[in-house]
Amino acid sequence: MNLEKILVKEIDESKQGESLTLDANPKGSKKMYIESYGCQMNFSDSEIVASILTKEGFSTTQNINEADLVFVNTCSIREKAELTVRKRLEFYNSIKKKDNPGMIVGVLGCMAERLKEKFLEEEKLVDLVIGPDAYRDLPNLLKQVDDGRKAVNVFLSKEETYADINPVRLGGNGVTAFVSITRGCDNMCTFCVVPFTRGRERSRNPENIVNECKQLLKDGYKEVTLLGQNVDSYLWFGGGAKKDFKKSSKNDQENSISFANLLEMVAEVGIELRIRFSTSNPQDMTTDVIKVMAKHKNICNYIHLPVQSGSDGILEKMNRGYSREKYITLIDKIRDLIPDCAISMDMIAGFCSEKEQDHQDTLSLMDYVKYEYGYMFKYSERPNTAAERKFEDDIPNDVKQRRLSEIIEKQLSHSFIRNKEKVGKTFEVLVEGKSKKSEEKLYGRTTHNSAVVFPKGNYKKGDYVMVKIEDCTSATLLGKAM
Ligand code: 5AD
Ligand code: SF4
Repeated sequence: MNLEKILVKEIDESKQGESLTLDANPKGSKKMYIESYGCQMNFSDSEIVASILTKEGFSTTQNINEADLVFVNTCSIREKAELTVRKRLEFYNSIKKKDNPGMIVGVLGCMAERLKEKFLEEEKLVDLVIGPDAYRDLPNLLKQVDDGRKAVNVFLSKEETYADINPVRLGGNGVTAFVSITRGCDNMCTFCVVPFTRGRERSRNPENIVNECKQLLKDGYKEVTLLGQNVDSYLWFGGGAKKDFKKSSKNDQENSISFANLLEMVAEVGIELRIRFSTSNPQDMTTDVIKVMAKHKNICNYIHLPVQSGSDGILEKMNRGYSREKYITLIDKIRDLIPDCAISMDMIAGFCSEKEQDHQDTLSLMDYVKYEYGYMFKYSERPNTAAERKFEDDIPNDVKQRRLSEIIEKQLSHSFIRNKEKVGKTFEVLVEGKSKKSEEKLYGRTTHNSAVVFPKGNYKKGDYVMVKIEDCTSATLLGKAM
């Protein structure tokens, strides 16, 4: 089934990351090759890096052999992702030795902090290591490498949001773009390495966010996804990490801007700009956000709401900050205020001490919500996390795998049910390009983030088209333009 492919794609970290090129490649004498792994945030960060390097005279290339600079933007979230990145670094090094001795190899992002000594000093796999908050230092670090020194900056900042950097767009379709609104996370879910690799939570200046969205609309983009590890805790009060809010001035506090406020500001940029956001942590999502969604037609009826488990005991152990009942109440509230809202989730199978009953609770929660989509993972113990320090990773791999398969199977059936409900109805589809399988068909998405394929007629990329759905698989809706 198609959806299976998509889901497996999401959870298969052994696959190669994407090397992306600039939408409009400037003429530059030096060439960079950037490969990104992991979440959308990482892809968005690669665009910031590319923007900084473009100013240094770099253009992008897809051919490693002609690259002056190869960067891997890494992901640490599960062990498998790390293993894949390591293999890629070994591969770059073999090319460097054989064919391209002048090439600089660098590691960016989440693995930088954790593995700096190992990669740089012990294994000599890279020339440059740079953490997610240090990208402005890149020109400096490149000079250090040129001078024959190893260059490293993994400083995690309490302030850096790259607020003023308008990212260049890499490998995009010219229709949809990501706009970063927060960095880092303070939530400390016990399984998660993000608070250690990406640091304290900070919010980006709303003025810069709105201006970036206005510019995107001017440049012909039709959809933005506001990005953050935890968008609902967005809070602008004059800058600084969220933890410092209480210490900020009364004036700053009174004039602070919440995620609901920001969402509304972005929605007002233009009715022809569709808005999505990701990721929402259920413990931080407010009714105000749901109300703003309901009020603005151009905010998509879609929420990615990771739940991770359906069992109270496990949720508590994960330090998620909500119970099963609270999560269900939130789902009911969303459905009440936005009856036609699609919801997707992340789920972890086989967290420490998970019993068969806990797993059954997860399956029954899925039955209650009937998610549109899901991103599902086996628990993978990560260094320094509370789970690593306090709990035993005691679920055997075959049990984790079996539970994960049951979760995936259920999700596939729910996705199919959700898609079947849409057959016979008509939806507005934003066209993102040609269908992968046929030159004669276009591909786009509905407000629910459902993929739609339909015969192209006279329509083109960037058009909003009313499409009547005639058939479906669990991954795709098939229709006809009205
Ligand atoms: N093991 C498995 N999955 C994890 N995730 C985060 N950390 C881990 C881990 N240690 C998953 C969560 C999160 C998604 C981005 O990755 O489901 O929502
Ligand atoms: Fe990790 Fe939890 Fe923060 Fe998400 S909310 S990034 S899972 S700590």
